[in-house]
Amino acid sequence: MTEAHPKYLWWNGRQMPWEDATIHVTELGWSTVGAIFEGIRAYWNPEQGEAYIFRLREHMVRFSQSMKLVRLRQDYPTEQLIEAIIQLVRDNNHREDVYIRPLAYRSGGGKSLSGFSDEASILINTRPNPSHLLTGMVQHACVSSWTRISDTVMPPRVKNMSNYRNGQLAAMEAATNGYDTAILLNAQGKVAEGPGACLMLVRNGRLITPDVTSSILESITRDALITMAREDLGIEVIERPVDRTELYIADEVFFCGTAAEITPIVSVDRYPVGDGTPGPITRRLEQLYHDVLRGIDPRHAEWRTPVGLAQVAATAD
Ligand SMILES: Cc1ncc(COP(=O)(O)O)c(C=O)c1O
Repeated sequence: MTEAHPKYLWWNGRQMPWEDATIHVTELGWSTVGAIFEGIRAYWNPEQGEAYIFRLREHMVRFSQSMKLVRLRQDYPTEQLIEAIIQLVRDNNHREDVYIRPLAYRSGGGKSLSGFSDEASILINTRPNPSHLLTGMVQHACVSSWTRISDTVMPPRVKNMSNYRNGQLAAMEAATNGYDTAILLNAQGKVAEGPGACLMLVRNGRLITPDVTSSILESITRDALITMAREDLGIEVIERPVDRTELYIADEVFFCGTAAEITPIVSVDRYPVGDGTPGPITRRLEQLYHDVLRGIDPRHAEWRTPVGLAQVAATAD
């Protein structure tokens, strides 16, 4: 793909040229307060000439749950949105790793922050987004002085756009203080997650991760890694509240998520994690996750939706 942006996006029921999807500048600010979104990745497999969307259905089920929770009406059925995404990635001819962002925003009820209407618009756009898996990327983290939003404030378990101000404040504080990223504690003082990723740690060969009532997003990557650790690698996984000081004595710590993929954390508050390099369980999971995402490892085929680019190429020959 040579253009600065993809050829098409999908907006309110139809795929259209990127340039044609415009709204007036005075809409700025209003729409996103009431918005929810999804972050999905497709991974390119050069040998097969195919791109695979990872856990597309699960992401779109969560999209519906997010809409429901913030009282947005979903006028386009999930099946239609799934088909729209597959076609969009195919027609944009993304022969590369891609980020796919479906977004639902409040489009009725006038320009009032407190106004209420369940009318929603849906936008889906795609952009190239190379994976950093197996590149050796690591991060140094601090525990943030900001507390993770709790379920009594805003719903952390869904992808509510406004939630991201909380993570953004933590990320900005971390950067200002010379760290790569932040880890937020929840209102109970237990470890929650990062600004845009869930967290896992390893202690004595066991994988430990905050449970889904710890003020975390119900992460699809977290769920996949738990399954792969248990079923494919035979590693014990424990979901439970996690103390801050466990981060300081853990053997391994890493972030996981669609954007974060697997990102090893090599220090927390300048305490080295393990020997200060990614540990063996992190590296095994990273290799397996990479191979499953791209369809190099045939396991978990139900998680991969082929876009149909191999078919397009075969037809063109
Ligand atoms: C706050 C937050 N936590 C966790 C995650 C990981 O969720 P998922 O694996 O579903 O992408 C994300 C998104 O990537 C996120 O924004």
